[in-house]
Amino acid sequence: MSDNNSDSFLEAEYREEDALEGRLRPQRLKEFQGQRALKENLSVFISAAKERQESLDHVFLSGPPGLGKTTLAGILANEMGAEFKVTSAPALEKPKDLAGILTTLGEGNVFFIDEVHRLKPALEEMLYIAMEDYEIDWIVGQGPAARTIRIPLPPFTLIGATTKAGQVTGPLFSRFGITVRMDFYTEADLKAIIARSASILSVSIGDDAVAAIAQCSRGTPRVANRLLRRMRDFAQILGNGSIDAGIVSEGLKRLEIDHFGLEKHDREILRTIIEQYDGGPVGAETLAISVGEAVESLEDFYEPFLIQRGFLQRTPRGRTATPLAYQHLGIDPNTGRSKKVEDQRFLF
Ligand SMILES: Nc1ncnc2c1ncn2[C@@H]1O[C@H](COP(=O)(O)OP(=O)(O)O)[C@@H](O)[C@H]1O
Ligand SMILES: [Mg+2]
Repeated sequence: MSDNNSDSFLEAEYREEDALEGRLRPQRLKEFQGQRALKENLSVFISAAKERQESLDHVFLSGPPGLGKTTLAGILANEMGAEFKVTSAPALEKPKDLAGILTTLGEGNVFFIDEVHRLKPALEEMLYIAMEDYEIDWIVGQGPAARTIRIPLPPFTLIGATTKAGQVTGPLFSRFGITVRMDFYTEADLKAIIARSASILSVSIGDDAVAAIAQCSRGTPRVANRLLRRMRDFAQILGNGSIDAGIVSEGLKRLEIDHFGLEKHDREILRTIIEQYDGGPVGAETLAISVGEAVESLEDFYEPFLIQRGFLQRTPRGRTATPLAYQHLGIDPNTGRSKKVEDQRFLF
């Protein structure tokens, strides 16, 4: 990721998870807000597996960052009463790295692999057999003396998470018995998340302030929690410690976040498409370079929300800005001119 936007508020969220976030992380399914249909199904699968005294089937979680994939994986382990082991695909270099973890799994353990689309092919093949037959084939020796030994594994549950479901290979995907696609949260769900987090952080917050934060949270619990914590800072320094609508409105203005939840960088992306590429289409690579962004974070973090809210379209020929993007930035689609330049930039 480039330096010129390292001050980006949202990019920090995309990159890191900190200790406070851990405190706000729900531990049980009943604390996990929203996503009702998904929770109901999972709780059936959990009860059924427990009743049969089996491990839960392998679970595939996909969706944009910050929607609760890691949280849900931990919850599934807790609900199954199982030990939780965590790794991420980029951390697994060699087959022995994966074999090393698999062979230490105990019966019923939940093994979580984050960013599972980045598994190397040799590791992926090892995982196929581990998932399907609960064993690994390990080759010892070299050349004609090489032989395969079969190492049995106890039944376990693999949970794979990814922000890029499209990059997961067919054979891997087909080995997951339970697939969950996480979607952006409704404002009502975000309100519940913010209220819950505020009570954990023991900060007083008004209903209208909760609603205002929810509205700007990009449908994303992680963003909601981050915004809440920044508003807590503003309330403490600018106000009397409680978060009210006035604090939120001032805080959002200072963070340059508009009422759609777009931050400066989102608006820059849209503005670049409109001003430099005539509204598009422009290829993702070119666009990423133009806005000084890694194509990964453009695609994983910024675009899903811009697309979902109808500011951006992905077409086979590239990205295009929608009429809503022109309207939001105050640019006339016919002339390409700003209607009222500076004061239209951020429509709070
Ligand atoms: N459904 C939810 N209810 C309450 N908090 C949530 C929910 N989903 C996510 N969170 C919060 O958002 C943060 C980010 O979630 P996380 O599981 O790390 O997202 P992901 O792994 O999808 O990037 C967590 O720390 C948690 O506090
Ligand atoms: Mg995660």
